[in-house]
Amino acid sequence: EKAGYEHFMMKEIHEQPRAVKDTLNSVLKDGKFDLTDIGLAEEDIRRTSQIYIVACGSAYHVGVVAQYVIEDLVKIPVRVELASEFRYRKPILDPNGLVIIISQSGETADSLAALRETKAQGIRTLGIVNVVGSSIAREADKVFYTLAGPEISVATTKAYSTQLMASYILAIEFAKVKNTITEEQYENYIAELQAIPEKIEKIIEDKERIQWFAAKQANAKDAFFVGRGIDYAICMEGSLKMKEISYVHSEAYAAGELKHGTISLIEDGTLVIGVLTQPELYEKTISNMVECKSRGAYLMGLTTYGNYSIEDTADFVVYIPKTDEHFEASLAVIPLQLMGYYVSVAKGLDVDKPRNLAKSVTVE
Ligand code: M6R
Repeated sequence: EKAGYEHFMMKEIHEQPRAVKDTLNSVLKDGKFDLTDIGLAEEDIRRTSQIYIVACGSAYHVGVVAQYVIEDLVKIPVRVELASEFRYRKPILDPNGLVIIISQSGETADSLAALRETKAQGIRTLGIVNVVGSSIAREADKVFYTLAGPEISVATTKAYSTQLMASYILAIEFAKVKNTITEEQYENYIAELQAIPEKIEKIIEDKERIQWFAAKQANAKDAFFVGRGIDYAICMEGSLKMKEISYVHSEAYAAGELKHGTISLIEDGTLVIGVLTQPELYEKTISNMVECKSRGAYLMGLTTYGNYSIEDTADFVVYIPKTDEHFEASLAVIPLQLMGYYVSVAKGLDVDKPRNLAKSVTVE
């Protein structure tokens, strides 16, 4: 059942190109998106003046990426919130708002409670859900099913990737209906999405290089992931992968926040992973990495091909292909999943079933 792989997590990492492609193709008709199966009519989209995204764990990290993408493309405010916070803060919601709940299992207690709280206020809800017929899928007004297939490993990989894809699709379709992008941009974005599965495949092909690096880092006590904008959102997911299956204390920091406290933790040999896929933020994050280096940090850089000047600063660099900058999280996350996986393997840990964790958190 592991199809020849040692762990479900590795099998699921390899399933990502297929899962992402299926999710995209499920709403593509004649080169355009058709969201009628989801039940999202143009009128629903036009009316939406604010989006709230509510989720837990990795699904929340997808929401953080989506917040940047939707605000930039659709030009409406997006607020992303942890379900466990949302449900108890008595949120004041815009009557023309749309609450998007993201959940692989569709059974996460806090996410389900947040959905019910929203519905009680009469606000429209949309679930991005993987498990067909799950509670969130049944109770949300509308459902966008991700087609990841069953995910066994506690650490999510392919569900995360398909949730990202679903978020991009919504962003692009909302932008088209609300006229915030041109027809040409619409077509270009779709073409970029269609190229993503193959690029993911290419990154996975290079996994031995990450394996080598991860084995060297297996004794790391701490890891700090730093980036800005969408790169910061990617850091959150990379950091979670590292801690949940490798038991390395890790933190994700908006690079600009380092100076406000965290940099005091950097000493000789501390592992710092800089994520730099966003062209406009590249130099800014580089300068934060230089600051870490001068305090003795050991630096890994994750950036797109072409940014070779990173080698002046980073000790080890992973290059990923370019895509439109809005979608770069889909590529940058792959080496970070592999890092978490290989550090866990190098430490001889139970990759698929990390201690103290359950696949789906059905109690608060
Ligand atoms: O089933 P859900 O997507 O609602 O689960 C949310 C989180 O529990 C989940 O993403 C968790 O953080 C993963 N184990 C991370 O790999």
